[in-house]
Amino acid sequence: ESPVHTLNDGRTLPAAGLGTYPLDDEAAEEAVRSALAAGYRLVDTAVNYGNERGVGRGVAASGVPREEVAVTTKLPGRDHGYEETLRSFRESLDRLGLEWVDLYLIHWPLPRVDRFVESWRAMIRLREEGLARSIGVSNFTPEQIARLERETGVLPAVNQVELHPLLPQEELRAFHAKHGIVTESWSPLGRGSELLKDAAIGRVARAHGVTPAQAVLRWHVQLGAVPVPKSANPARQRENLDVFGFALTEAELEAVAGRPPRRLGGDPDHHEEF
Ligand code: A2P
Repeated sequence: ESPVHTLNDGRTLPAAGLGTYPLDDEAAEEAVRSALAAGYRLVDTAVNYGNERGVGRGVAASGVPREEVAVTTKLPGRDHGYEETLRSFRESLDRLGLEWVDLYLIHWPLPRVDRFVESWRAMIRLREEGLARSIGVSNFTPEQIARLERETGVLPAVNQVELHPLLPQEELRAFHAKHGIVTESWSPLGRGSELLKDAAIGRVARAHGVTPAQAVLRWHVQLGAVPVPKSANPARQRENLDVFGFALTEAELEAVAGRPPRRLGGDPDHHEEF
């Protein structure tokens, strides 16, 4: 099992987890069940992945006590707004078949819709009611996070962003560190890009007798970021969690990330995912 981070709300979050995009309900159920059997204690889904039912079934079928599993889901762009968020959250709980979620995130800020502060107020209420044990955001900029704090007094516990060796997000991570916000990494392996075949990453991996994926995930862990790699394959799931028994040197951390930045997913300033 993985170590945990302590969040700025006093709760804890496992240092690594399982991503579930783009698994359908059936594949997600099986992936979550096998991941929990392998020792994962953090599972990440979203309304827009369309697999909350499968994720919930996987948690239930795992036999792992509910209190020991951190389940994350996310508010979709089309449900921004105060009442909309409360309704959307209830629907998520219903699909998941759960009484609470451990981490509820705003999936995208949608700056042109400009309702994320209203959504955030609803999420603060859900946290107060104990229905969302921790609340956070995804794909937010420092300016948007600062606005949440200015207008509500509550900082997110987490910002989940695209982060991998092609997009190391130094400035954003420094902002998070300064404000006690934990960074979560989506597409931590660079989405099956050429990253895992990179020569420099291969050298680092060989030096530790690990796979390129493990070297990259260890890089996240040493940055203090929580990777949520998606894998439906039990052997790769185990591999991806087995990153707490070795450490990269400073030079190796730099070798893993030393390349021109490249975004693989949506740009938060322009991406309007509803
Ligand atoms: P699979 O589900 O067949 O394991 P990301 O999380 O960055 O989006 O990357 C997910 C992609 O990387 C998936 O296609 C997944 O495929 C693959 N993947 C996950 N873990 C590993 C691993 N340890 N080695 C190689 N590929 C992996």
